[in-house]
Amino acid sequence: MGQQKTILRALAGETQVVPPIWMMRQAGRYLPEYRATRAQAGDFLSLCYNSELAAEVTLQPIRRYGFDAAILFADILLVPQALGADLWFVTGEGPRLSTITTESDFAKLKPASDIHAVLNPVYETVRILSRELPSETTLIGFAGAPWTVATYMIAGRGTPDQGPAHALMTENVALFEALLARITEATIIYLSAQIEAGAEVVKIFDSWAGSLKGDAFRKYALEPAREITAALKARYPHIPIIGFPREAGEAYVGFHKATGVDCVALDNSVDPEWAAAHVQVDGCVQGNLASTHMVTGGEALVSETRRIVKAFSKGPHIFNLGHGITPDADPANVQLMIDTVREGAQG
Ligand code: CP3
Repeated sequence: MGQQKTILRALAGETQVVPPIWMMRQAGRYLPEYRATRAQAGDFLSLCYNSELAAEVTLQPIRRYGFDAAILFADILLVPQALGADLWFVTGEGPRLSTITTESDFAKLKPASDIHAVLNPVYETVRILSRELPSETTLIGFAGAPWTVATYMIAGRGTPDQGPAHALMTENVALFEALLARITEATIIYLSAQIEAGAEVVKIFDSWAGSLKGDAFRKYALEPAREITAALKARYPHIPIIGFPREAGEAYVGFHKATGVDCVALDNSVDPEWAAAHVQVDGCVQGNLASTHMVTGGEALVSETRRIVKAFSKGPHIFNLGHGITPDADPANVQLMIDTVREGAQG
């Protein structure tokens, strides 16, 4: 009703001639200004907890490119840290955490209601951003989905196949489900606080949903997303929610209805024409250009961008990559993608 911001219009179900656009990891190492601010902060986690500098890096891609949305600068692994896990990042390798594989590891975790003590600086980042963002830019908050967060908490690091989490699911399902329940509860509290601070949309990143099949997908990807969505909708019915069950494949079909999310984000392993016919029929979709085009650019970037815009042109669509932009991307290719998406507006 009288909604002006393009992202919110798409999330309300409006089909737009030019889809709104933002980009996963839009604040990141491919940008020289990000690398400078990160150096100023010291390291990645210090940047996440420095509200002024986290707001600054969130704003950098908005200033440079004028994206339709800004995503809060933080990380999905701050929630495990707030629950009491040790967390650090090894340069060139990725995150490391203390592991949760036994009942006694689990017993050491804090209650979900304790997370604010660690996460307050993130809420302050949101407050700064809601003051400083241009009036046409939508502010997106986020959290990891319980399954994806649990894969890191169980293994203590990123894993190619989420093997340790699947093993715990088999060997001690009660402990596995207790951990998922704790993360789910913390996620509801965390996203509620982001909304209270000024987030206008929230996104749930289930980066490893693709390794859950059949009944496990239903129990550990759909059900937590449904529970988080229901809890947030009960308190904040006007706040749209984006779900991202990455690499869900056929299981993208019906995800809107099964979880109640307003938008399903698609990775680039699904064809946009297929997704328009089978997923966008149920509501807004987001995606799904391969992030490799941000490295390679050229005619392939232009033609694939046009193909995606065309495939999703009959319904609500937010243009995005299929996964985060990588550090080796060329900032000029990001501009080429945006110009290609928006060329319909001029022509
Ligand atoms: O998208 C954005 O710009 C917002 C900020 C954001 C980050 N991480 C910043 C970040 C968001 C939304 C995330 C989500 C996230 N973090 C996910 C889900 C999305 C996905 O990519 O699948 C996951 C799995 C993580 C966990 C994580 N954080 C890993 C595995 C790594 C290391 C890999 C890497 O890219 O180095 C991170 C680090 C991280 N998170 C960086 C950024 C900008 C790079 C850190 C740096 O500056 O050195």
